[in-house]
Amino acid sequence: MEGHRSRSPNSSYHNRHSAYKRERDDNGKNHCENKRFRPNSRQHQYRPGSPPGQTQLSSRTLSTRRELYERDFPLYKQPVEIGCFSLDSERRFFNDSRQLRYYVEPDRNPNFDLRDGYKERFKKRDDGVKEKLDHILRWIVANKSKLNSRTASACALDADFVTWRGHLTKLLTTPYETKEGWLLAVTRFRGTLYMSEVETETSRRERENRTDRHEEMMYWGYKFEQYTCADTVHSVPDPGGVVNTNEAFCTVVQTRLADHKLLFSGEVDCRDKDPNAPAPPGCYVELKTSAEICTPKQRSNFHRFKLLKWWAQSFLPGVPRVVAGFRDHEGVVVSMETFQISKISHLIKNEYNCWKPTVCMNFCCDFLSFVKRVVTEDSKSVVYLFSWEPRRDVTYSVYRDSQYSFLPDWFVEEMSSQDSHQS
Ligand code: A3P
Ligand code: MG
Repeated sequence: MEGHRSRSPNSSYHNRHSAYKRERDDNGKNHCENKRFRPNSRQHQYRPGSPPGQTQLSSRTLSTRRELYERDFPLYKQPVEIGCFSLDSERRFFNDSRQLRYYVEPDRNPNFDLRDGYKERFKKRDDGVKEKLDHILRWIVANKSKLNSRTASACALDADFVTWRGHLTKLLTTPYETKEGWLLAVTRFRGTLYMSEVETETSRRERENRTDRHEEMMYWGYKFEQYTCADTVHSVPDPGGVVNTNEAFCTVVQTRLADHKLLFSGEVDCRDKDPNAPAPPGCYVELKTSAEICTPKQRSNFHRFKLLKWWAQSFLPGVPRVVAGFRDHEGVVVSMETFQISKISHLIKNEYNCWKPTVCMNFCCDFLSFVKRVVTEDSKSVVYLFSWEPRRDVTYSVYRDSQYSFLPDWFVEEMSSQDSHQS
């Protein structure tokens, strides 16, 4: 990870392959309302040699083809934790770390029964309730004095993008994703681009039609967390307690991807309890479960698909390690393994036609550039909806005062009154 991060966006960075599809700008407009742009015959593929942004051409779609993103790793600054927040058992917000848990290392062969308590000690979060960016916005309001821009006065925050880590993870994995598309709503408000996911019809249908087995298997990951986490630095895990998935501890980090200043938040499973461990996010630990690996084919699939998701999720906030519990078909954890995020790219090197971190990061970077160029109107109630389906380009459409608007009035009011509150 450190090796990747030390690279800066050098001169060849913008001059190599680019995925922008460009066409002539119609009088400076690069969007229209409530219409989706589709690739059309006037579009042509941008070729290396003419740097993006140099002409009057504007792009209306973005390709996700892997080969277009195989260039030097972009600058990704070491993420810095600028705060954190907690959500309690009833999903109430607290501007503190009360839900942070401590990792307690289990035996190598722990025999944890992940099915235990599913029927009688499980309180599941209602995933039909869409919280959008609300918790992050609450954190921003509670900490706004820390966050004022030192440069532009029209820009309320010192960030180009505010979003969830999970949304960025989806962007990182897009060039390799073959099954699930996504929708991302973006609003420019006081210069900052707020990016919030919208559930696709397909994913809503899947959520509403999960099998009992699938529902139970979703519990297993949380149960594993309960077996391996303690509530305080000196206590031990309590596998007899209730698993309540409303509870969460979230880190808020700031970083930069090439010229994009990012502020995002992500849930953190637990931390190293050693008081001499590195400062957050260096002390954080991501917990995962996965089916045990018994054949070379299973190992290959694990490298190609699972490690991509694990790497993307933890690399973004600078979480250095994933502790995995491998379970059998009955949901019993039979072995444990720790993966250092910085070593995952070496681990997959021998895998034929495998994913590449540089493709993930360059695609994300180009997508953010695309968003910056498209989302020009600064208005709390205008949403640019970016849409992607596997084997297609990214397209967008624009909505005004629609069902997609997601910045709450309380946030807009707080951020607009900020000038008068400043000392
Ligand atoms: P696993 O990670 O062991 O799969 P996270 O790992 O991101 O902290 O998420 C914790 C657990 O939430 C997961 O454990 C899994 O049980 C459940 N989960 C998260 N995202 C999921 C998804 N998209 N589909 C099914 N389960 C999910
Ligand atoms: Mg986890």
